[in-house]
Formats: sequence, structure tokens, C-alpha cells
Amino acid sequence: MSGQKRHIGITDTTLRDGHQSLLATRMKTKDMLPIAEKMDEIGFHSLEVWGGATFDSCMRFLNEDPWERLKTLRKSFKKTKLQMLLRGQNLVGYKHYADDVVEAFVAKAAEHGIDIFRIFDALNDVRNMQKAMEEVKKNGKHVQATICYTLGPIYDLEYYLKMGRELKELGADSICIKDMAGILTPYAAYDLVSALKKELALPIQMHTHYTSGMGSMMYLKAIEAGADVVDTANSALALGTSQPATETMVAVLSEGGYETGIDLEQVSLLAEYFKEVRKDYEEFDVYKAGVDVNVLRYQVPGGMLSNFISQLSQANALDKFEAVLLEVPRVRADMGFPPLVTPSSQIVGSQALLNVLSGERYKMVSNEVKNYMKGLYGKAPGEVNEEIRRKIIGDERPITVRPADLLEPQIEAAKQEIGDLAKNMEDLLLYILFPQVAKPFLAGTSTAEEPQAKPVAIKEEQKVEPKPMAVAPINTNISSGIGSAARFAANRTNSRTGGISFNFNGKIEKLKISVDGNGYKVSTGKADDEIEEQEVSQEQEVKQEKEIKQEKEAPKAAANISADSTVTAPMPGKIFKVIMGAGSKVKQGDIVMILEAMKMENEILAPIDGTVGEISVTEGDAVNPGDILFKIK
Ligand code: CO
Repeated sequence: MSGQKRHIGITDTTLRDGHQSLLATRMKTKDMLPIAEKMDEIGFHSLEVWGGATFDSCMRFLNEDPWERLKTLRKSFKKTKLQMLLRGQNLVGYKHYADDVVEAFVAKAAEHGIDIFRIFDALNDVRNMQKAMEEVKKNGKHVQATICYTLGPIYDLEYYLKMGRELKELGADSICIKDMAGILTPYAAYDLVSALKKELALPIQMHTHYTSGMGSMMYLKAIEAGADVVDTANSALALGTSQPATETMVAVLSEGGYETGIDLEQVSLLAEYFKEVRKDYEEFDVYKAGVDVNVLRYQVPGGMLSNFISQLSQANALDKFEAVLLEVPRVRADMGFPPLVTPSSQIVGSQALLNVLSGERYKMVSNEVKNYMKGLYGKAPGEVNEEIRRKIIGDERPITVRPADLLEPQIEAAKQEIGDLAKNMEDLLLYILFPQVAKPFLAGTSTAEEPQAKPVAIKEEQKVEPKPMAVAPINTNISSGIGSAARFAANRTNSRTGGISFNFNGKIEKLKISVDGNGYKVSTGKADDEIEEQEVSQEQEVKQEKEIKQEKEAPKAAANISADSTVTAPMPGKIFKVIMGAGSKVKQGDIVMILEAMKMENEILAPIDGTVGEISVTEGDAVNPGDILFKIK
């Protein structure tokens, strides 16, 4: 023991959130193993290695079995506690699963090596966390119940204290304050942690993303207020959209009357390894350095911004970037101020995008937004805009019970569906969580979705065939390019505006970046250093209004239709399901197919009564705006 010094635990997130945030969740197990023994010796409070998006990505992009990854890591980490991120009733997926699935999943995760389960709900609805918390306790593991930190008129100290009390009541062993967007300021953290500590007397762990540049300052104030553990990533995979750097925190804390039990020299050695590993994932490397001030301005997660840029590029509508950013808080207010975290960030973000791209708010609504309005994700933290709700679900009354109470058990049904392909419960869970990806994966016919992401061990029969991609991870280059362009623009003393060209899928995109005060704006324009700073001209505004009017006057239909009733894709995405085959009789408004975009399911409706003619796409096809989907005769 080190006398008077207070112990602060350090959770290293490099193997989960670190690469999820910086390398699009692509780090392969084989790149984790060589350093595992060294990491195990450091003396971390815990290692976050599993859950979140890694489960899905393992299978989808790397052709790896996430269960095998966990088992392998558990074998390598003999001393250190392993931790995972669990999205409450959503587990590691994007929707609610029945209680029997939660039970089975938690039991298997515990069996294969998870010690600490960090459980959250995207709406901070504790009813959605309760079942998972109970199951973790039943399995004798540590329940870390999470409060998602966000801003908005309803979020005051009392809101967080009330949630904290509820979580303690449900048996939380510790509390995590999850600042997924990096918007928790150091002083707000001090007040929040002081109040929660006093009220709950539970260990408190802090989680943040460095996107706004406040992360390590925030940790320091939180620790001063009594926080016990902080999440950091190895410096080689820290900062930017990832966590504050481990080495920085260790160095600072050891000087300030705290001890972390971590030797700075030892932990520094890890960076040499991860620096090399990072180089192998160049094409996914989304954020080199710097501070994204838009997070401070718009309070949206950094990932959302790069998603918008990618989607808008493909829709050839980068000039709408600013409009989409302004639409996000409006949609969020309509929905009762949900925190922006998976999956609510995708639900809000894609709806904002649809509202802008379709030219009319809520003209086209994703299934997820419909379900949200029906209460199927849980209770909105604030009041939902009733007018908008009626527009979306009509007179249907939203449910008031816990959403999973309405779900039938899923395991037996899934067993029947998948048959012999699932050899055990682990396989079955893969299938229940991600049926479309798991089926070919289990059959051994999976092709890694991206040519760059080759599976670790390719069996003879599993040849990886590159597939053309519509939703390419190209946003990586664009977003980092914008960062540097903005810095470039900011560094110029006379001009506050810069331009940059991107080679995007072989097409040169020109973006104009203007810096005002503490933020930057992106718009399409001349990629020329001499662009004058100018607001959108009146002429353009009138033109935009006209276009919006024309859209409004057009027949009400979800997708874009031409005169001969050819329906085209309204946004980039992937055909998730074709519901009405060629020859089907349809009525106007019938769902013909479902387009998956930004992980949301968007219904493509029949624009008129008639018969479905030629269908130009099949399930799984990637489409771009304007691509023909089907015709109606
Ligand atoms: Co995170």
C-alpha cells in the first residue's frame, strides 16, 4: 500500500472502444494476442475487450467468431479482469431481444470470461437494463450500471441522481458515467460525480471520448470529486474519437497524490506495439489527431458526423451537410431528447438525413423511428412531440410497458429456423442477433464484406471474394481530410476559408471549408484557396425553397418515382428485404421492399395502385440514390 495515496483504477479500452472508435472496429484477434501477456502484467483495473460493436464486426467484416475471440483472450489474460459493453435488452445488437436470449447471452459471456458487464440503455430507461443486470448477478459477475450522459432541457442533476438511485436499487455494483459524445465538461463532471458519490456511495467509473478535447481534464476533475476508475486507451490508439491516453493519466495521477498501480515505463512499451498494428489498418483510420469542435457546437457524436459526410457524398448532396446538422437537434427534440448513443444516435441521425434529403420532414420514416414512436424502444426521457407522433403512427397508442414484455421467447423458434447450422448455444446466439450475417458465417460460405478485411484463418473452403461496396468506409479519408483542411484554414491569418478536393470513389469531390470562431463548416464548392467567405446567397435560398415546395406538391410516396412509375433508391444503402415480388398486386402505400441505410430499415412503398413489374435488385444489393429498384405497372 502506498500510504495516503488514493487508488485510481485504469481500464484499458484499446482492444474494444479504442479500435472501434479509430479503426472502424476492425482489429483482428491475431493482432491482440502477441501483446496480451504484456498487457496482463501492467496492473490495469480491467481490460475492455468485448461487446459493443466488436461482436457484430467480428463476424461481418473479419469472418471471426466473436465467442472464439473471447475464449482466446480469456486464455491470454490470466490475471486481469475482462470487461464488456452490453446494450441492455439490445445486448450487442440494435433491437430488443426476448428475456430468454438475454439470459442465454449473459450466461455464455460470463462462462467464456467476462468479469465486468457494463450495461446501458440508449434511452436511460432502467427497465431495459433490469433483466441483464439480474442475469449478471445470477452468474456471480460484476454489474456496472451505466448512466448515459447527455444534454438537454430535461437533464439536470436531479435526473441523474434519480437514475442512479434506481440503478442502485436494482443491484448495481458500480456506476459508469458514459460520456459517449465527449460533451461532459470538467466542471459538470465534478458536480455530477460529487453528487452521485454522496447519494449512492458506489464506485464510479468514467467513460469518455476525446473528440472534443476535454477528456483528460474531465477525468481529473471527476477523480477529484471521487471517481474511482477511468477508461483510457493506449496512446497509440487514444485521443481523437477514442479515449484519453493511458500514459497521460498515469503520469499526471502519480504526481497528484493518487496511485494507479501502473508503471509508466512498462505501460509505455505497449505503444510501440500498437503503433505498428495501427499501420495495418490505414484504410479504416478515421481520426488522426485534433479536436472536433463540432462536437462542442452540435453535441453530436463524432461518428455521426463522418457518417453524414459519407452518406451525403453518395447522395451527391454534400451541400446539405449543414442542414442535416441543424436537423439533428430538431429531430431529437421531437423524440423527447434521447441521448445520442447506439442505437438512438443512428435512429435520430438517419431520420435527420431523411428529413433533409426527402425535402419534407417525416415524409419518409424509418421503421426504427416508427417503433420508437410506438414506445418499442422504451420510454423517451422527455416528452415526445405528439403532433409528429401522430403523423408517424396515426392514432395508434404507444405501449407503456417494458418493450421486452411483449416479446415471445426466441430461442426455440430460432433453433427450428437455423437447424443443424447452429451446433451450440453460441452459434444460435450469433444467428438470433445477426441472422443475415450469421447464416453464411455458420455455413462457412461467408465472404468478408470488404475486400480489405481478410479473415484471420481462411479455411480451404472459405474463399474471400471481394464484393463491390456501396457504403464504403471512404468517410475515413474524408473526415480526416476535413480536419486537416480546417486546421489549414484556421492557420491562415487572412483567410478563414479553405478548399480541399477528395478523390472519392474515383470521382473528385470538392469541398469548401470555412472556419468561423471555434468551428468549421463544410459545403461543396470550388476547391480553391481563393474562395471568398460567403453565406448561402439569397438566390440559392429561393431555389432551395422552390425545390422543397415542388417536393411537397409531388404525390406522397416514400421513394423517388418518375413519370412511368419507376421507383428509385432515395438514399445509399443495401436492399434488406424484397417483400412484394414481381407480379404482386399492390395498393398505394404498400411496402414493396426494405432498404437498410445507416443500420436503419426504410420501407420503400408502392407509389400507386398496380402490379409490381420488373424488380431490378435482389436482397443484399448495394444501391445508390437514383438506382432503379422496381417498376409499377
Ligand atoms: Co465509448
